[in-house]
Amino acid sequence: MSVLEATNISKVYGSKRGIEQKAIDHISLSIEKGEFVGVMGPSGSGKTTLLNVLSTIDRLSAGSLMINGTEITKLSKDKLAKFRRREMGFIFQDFNLLDTLTIGENIMLPLTLDGWKVNEMEAKLAQVSKQLGIDTILPNRSFEVSGGQMQRAAIARAIIHEPAIIFADEPTGNLDSKSSKQVMEALATLNNQKEATTLMVTHDPFAASFCERILFIKDGKIFNQLDKGDNRQTFFQDILNVQSMLGGDTDDFQTVRV
Ligand SMILES: Nc1ncnc2c1ncn2[C@@H]1O[C@H](COP(=O)(O)OP(=O)(O)OP(=O)(O)O)[C@@H](O)[C@H]1O
Ligand SMILES: [Mg+2]
Repeated sequence: MSVLEATNISKVYGSKRGIEQKAIDHISLSIEKGEFVGVMGPSGSGKTTLLNVLSTIDRLSAGSLMINGTEITKLSKDKLAKFRRREMGFIFQDFNLLDTLTIGENIMLPLTLDGWKVNEMEAKLAQVSKQLGIDTILPNRSFEVSGGQMQRAAIARAIIHEPAIIFADEPTGNLDSKSSKQVMEALATLNNQKEATTLMVTHDPFAASFCERILFIKDGKIFNQLDKGDNRQTFFQDILNVQSMLGGDTDDFQTVRV
């Protein structure tokens, strides 16, 4: 079953001078339950825009989008907000944790917003935080823990309500290589063990090598697609090859690590 099915979607940004920017140009894609899909491409190619329209943060200009059997473009604003809260999890480059709350309170936020009972929330928190190896920092504030721990807390928050799909935009963008590896291993494990369907935008070929499939975007269109197969090292090399073919940012290569 497809968790996400986008058909012929486009996003055009208007401009004050009347020049339109076609950031997504008739893309169709489908993501099956339990898939871990990466999105790569040069700077300005439309990655963030794609993630934002698929995750309903931003509105489509054209096309249709089904998530978990619901046609998103037909939902009212209120229904959409509720749908997003229940069915989606978000992970951002800058973690987006609230520093007025403890790490534990941050992680429980989706359940708090959904009116769960305190003891049920705490049971769920204990389980998820243990799984991500952050059960000892739950009473801390975000400024008292490391970047990798903050991002794992953000992952815990993104999955605690068992959403249909998780959207991640550059989740390793602010992390050193050791923390990046931990975060990607956590995402890959969640994907393997819990069938957490994940769509991740990244510049980083190392992070991308944890995905099962990569979509390469150029000028708002899908340029190429790569499947992992059974060897991550070969996959990593393939990713580098497509990246160099695509051109664009030479900065992309500064993050290369093996
Ligand atoms: N709010 C906006 N208004 C107008 N144009 C925009 C807006 N956001 C993005 N764009 C344009 O749309 C195109 C795609 O931008 P997008 O942010 O999706 O690229 P990206 O692939 O995420 O780039 P990066 O790797 O630098 O994050 C770019 O040409 C960009 O300038
Ligand atoms: Mg971007």
